[in-house]
Amino acid sequence: MKKNGFLEKYEEIFTPSAPMEDRELFFGREQELVDFKRGIRRKGLHPVVIGHRGVGKTSLVKMALHEWDETHTIIRVTCNARMSFHEFAASVLEQLGVDRTEIETIYENAKSVHGKAGIFSSEIGTSGNEKTTVRKAGENSVKYEPWGLYSYLASRKDNIIVVLDEYDRINSNNKYSKHFHENVADLMKTLADNAEYCTTKLVVVGISQSAQKLLGEHESIERSAREIYIRPLRQEDINDFLTSTEQDLNFSFHPAVKESIIQSSNGYPYYVHLVSLQAIDAMIDRDKSARSVSVEDFENGIVKAVEEAFRSVLRKYQGAVNGLKERELIFIEKFCYYPLNRDVYINTFRDHMQRRNIMGGQEFDSILTKLTHDQALFYTSRNSGRLRFVEPLMGAFLKSKIFKIQSGRNISKNQLDLEL
Ligand SMILES: Nc1ncnc2c1ncn2[C@@H]1O[C@H](COP(=O)(O)OP(=O)(O)OP(=O)(O)O)[C@@H](O)[C@H]1O
Ligand SMILES: [Mg+2]
Repeated sequence: MKKNGFLEKYEEIFTPSAPMEDRELFFGREQELVDFKRGIRRKGLHPVVIGHRGVGKTSLVKMALHEWDETHTIIRVTCNARMSFHEFAASVLEQLGVDRTEIETIYENAKSVHGKAGIFSSEIGTSGNEKTTVRKAGENSVKYEPWGLYSYLASRKDNIIVVLDEYDRINSNNKYSKHFHENVADLMKTLADNAEYCTTKLVVVGISQSAQKLLGEHESIERSAREIYIRPLRQEDINDFLTSTEQDLNFSFHPAVKESIIQSSNGYPYYVHLVSLQAIDAMIDRDKSARSVSVEDFENGIVKAVEEAFRSVLRKYQGAVNGLKERELIFIEKFCYYPLNRDVYINTFRDHMQRRNIMGGQEFDSILTKLTHDQALFYTSRNSGRLRFVEPLMGAFLKSKIFKIQSGRNISKNQLDLEL
């Protein structure tokens, strides 16, 4: 029997948990690709790729490195909250297939040339207050330092690119993270200063608004870090992506569904993939041979998507909502009656609340200030005077899980008949 391609293929195309591998479906990133390649090509510069969660940072780096025609060895390290510089360096060396005894020899040589060994504990050139590691025989007896790692990298003939992904996980202010930041900054600076001897590049990737916030403030790296900010995708790009998947897979989204995915995604491809995948699953559960995603499939899909995201991304928001005062919750609940995650004019919302005697302007403004502070829940764009949830699935989550508001059938554009 001939296999039906659709059922096998759609899960390969909609991949919320994996970065994008298919160049044909990678839309809207031409400028970022150029910026990244420029950053990595230029001597002494190291790209720092930042942006919100799920905006496509890891995909961008993968795609750019894949397209870049230089021959290079790529090493990837996924950071975690308690990662030390030593662990990071050990992982790099291990991936490069390095034997530890070989390293010792290289560093002893480096020491005789540069007067620094660096590889072993705090001999020379370390930041000082870190616990001294005594050199013992055997595994884990050596402590890798930036200079040591640099020396090894400089001894290699190949072009190495070390990608530190999920760097934001280290971004708390505990002791470990401080040392990690300092050491990464040291390594970046050493690589930048010695670019003629060592072609290795660092690529730091993480959720942040600025390279400085991500890496911490280190004067030494201000000149060597090349910040590349990944913006949310434009609506046209998401439309192109969805249209291409329809063509490739020979199925269709109901036009209102497609529009709603585009509008509600806020430009976050993570959301687009997650919601599309769940909506198609719902379509198949309804009828295995169906090839048109209906409004109902989409709404069922959203509920599933929220459940799924809830386990990972949205859990922290429940805590945030739990701590709020009653009046603040009313503010949020009423906001949830607007169409899912559409930008809402603050003035319109304030008017609605006043006209229906739910809340006066002054109270509205002070609650707004609190909930937008540090982008805790809401994001406002002062220029356009609009308001939206920081995370694209936030509205759906609050609506279904917290306020239990039935989602209406009508998801078309002019749904401003609010039940405020
Ligand atoms: N330009 C694009 N066009 C279509 N889909 C994309 C694009 N960029 C990324 N994606 C998809 O978006 C989702 C999120 O991408 P990715 O994992 O790269 O984001 P991220 O910013 O690294 O996320 P996180 O902050 O969780 O690390 C993936 O499903 C990926 O396939
Ligand atoms: Mg990522």
